[in-house]
Amino acid sequence: MDPKTRRAYDDHAETYASRWLQADRTNTHALVRRFFTPGKPTLDVGSGIGRDVAWLCEHDFPAEGVEVSSTLLGLARQTYPSRRFSSGSLPELHLDRRFSNILCRNVIMHLAREVHPHAVTALLRHLAPEGALLLTWRPDTPDGEQRDGDGRLYAHVDEDQLRQAARQAGAEWLHDEVITSGSSGKPLRVVALRRGAPDTTPE
Ligand SMILES: C[S@@+](CC[C@H](N)C(=O)[O-])C[C@H]1O[C@@H](n2cnc3c(N)ncnc32)[C@H](O)[C@@H]1O
Repeated sequence: MDPKTRRAYDDHAETYASRWLQADRTNTHALVRRFFTPGKPTLDVGSGIGRDVAWLCEHDFPAEGVEVSSTLLGLARQTYPSRRFSSGSLPELHLDRRFSNILCRNVIMHLAREVHPHAVTALLRHLAPEGALLLTWRPDTPDGEQRDGDGRLYAHVDEDQLRQAARQAGAEWLHDEVITSGSSGKPLRVVALRRGAPDTTPE
């Protein structure tokens, strides 16, 4: 976890939350319907204000969220009191359960480049056999790392590194595309991974 990024989300939580609550999520919902298995445990990592957790639960993807910003976590619990949110972060994430569906939308580019493979490994470690991971990020940092005005880290995501981490964890690279973010209007890289069966991923 990048401390400056967490601080930025803590300090400006209300502003980000109101932006996310208004955003068009049609593209994300279509991907969820395409790759996730209904009725199965679902995890949203970097769940922000919790809107995706609420939508998932309402559409037969029983979901819970994990979030690093304590301010956003508090707002999510207040906004969606019947939904489950806990504190946690990549790449250290360690829950005692696995999930058939994992969404990690626009989080990985906030991590230092060298930990991206560890973050993918941690996500895949939480995926049940034959489960699907939807991973998205902002691909507009051409190289290296930069920070925005609030101090959030934007790191270049090297897809070859991610593919290698996925292969080592026994996951299949199912799909990738670029869509447009409904909140920022900027491009979003989306990849879908499926964990293999039988259960061969190392703990
Ligand atoms: C760009 S926002 C995306 C929020 C939500 N997933 C969405 O798509 O609307 C990034 C979110 O990830 C959280 N975050 C940042 N670094 C994280 C980390 N290392 N582990 C988990 N969450 C993180 C932030 O606090 C914020 O809620």
